[in-house]
Amino acid sequence: MWHASVFTLFPEMFPGPLGLSLAGKALREGRWGLEAIDIRSFATDRHRSVDDTPFGGGAGMVMRPDVVDAAVGATVAAGDPARPLICLTPRGRLLDQALVREIAAGPGCILVCGRYEGVDQRVIEARGMREVSVGDYVLSGGEPAALVLLDACVRLLPGVMGAAASAEEESHGEAGLLEYPHYTRPAEWQGRRVPEVLVSGHHAAVARWRRAEAERITRERRPDLWAKHGSRRPEPAADAACGEVLRRPEPAADAACGTAANTRLPRAAGAA
Ligand code: ADE
Repeated sequence: MWHASVFTLFPEMFPGPLGLSLAGKALREGRWGLEAIDIRSFATDRHRSVDDTPFGGGAGMVMRPDVVDAAVGATVAAGDPARPLICLTPRGRLLDQALVREIAAGPGCILVCGRYEGVDQRVIEARGMREVSVGDYVLSGGEPAALVLLDACVRLLPGVMGAAASAEEESHGEAGLLEYPHYTRPAEWQGRRVPEVLVSGHHAAVARWRRAEAERITRERRPDLWAKHGSRRPEPAADAACGEVLRRPEPAADAACGTAANTRLPRAAGAA
């Protein structure tokens, strides 16, 4: 069974949101396993200290190498060295879908959540930890990053999402594009119609429209992904056959599927 061991100073943060919805159901069904281990339980001094001031001065505290090493050592020694050992840190390499797929395809992972200024670099090196970041921003600790990484992996495990996880079409899927926009009933809402091609029943035209939208959105929002996508495909990316569906639709539908809709603030959470 795919198994995650998470080292943290806040074990009560787990499973957190992963105990709900499909990930939570899969956890209860034993499709994956999770243990959150309190790093503080490996502290040895009277005060159970896990951190200390940084050598060289500066703000914040650094997690002690001896305590983190003792915590990780207990789990690694007990079993599977095959699971990747990952330290969540804003200094790490960016988590992307390729890394998610790699971790999800293995036996699980061991995650170390840093707090404060982070973890002493010597234990990161001594244990051969991979340093991974979930984005170019700073969280108050590695725990929310660990939840993000686990969520992204767990949804790829067999039997967790069923057909809902489409490796080819979803954003960051095999095509290397962001996904096309989605619409459901009613076909007209607040004067906005869904793009006509989607109700045409013409499957090939729908497929072409979706491809063209995925390409347009990727080009507009993520030039970095678009450049990578282009270098992966030998032929020109734009599909000339999409003329019929690229024609600008009536204003309401246009606003609903174009960039204008994306500049609007989302409705308050829970308003759906
Ligand atoms: N800890 C603090 N910020 C983080 C980030 N962006 N990614 C991973 N771990 C973190």
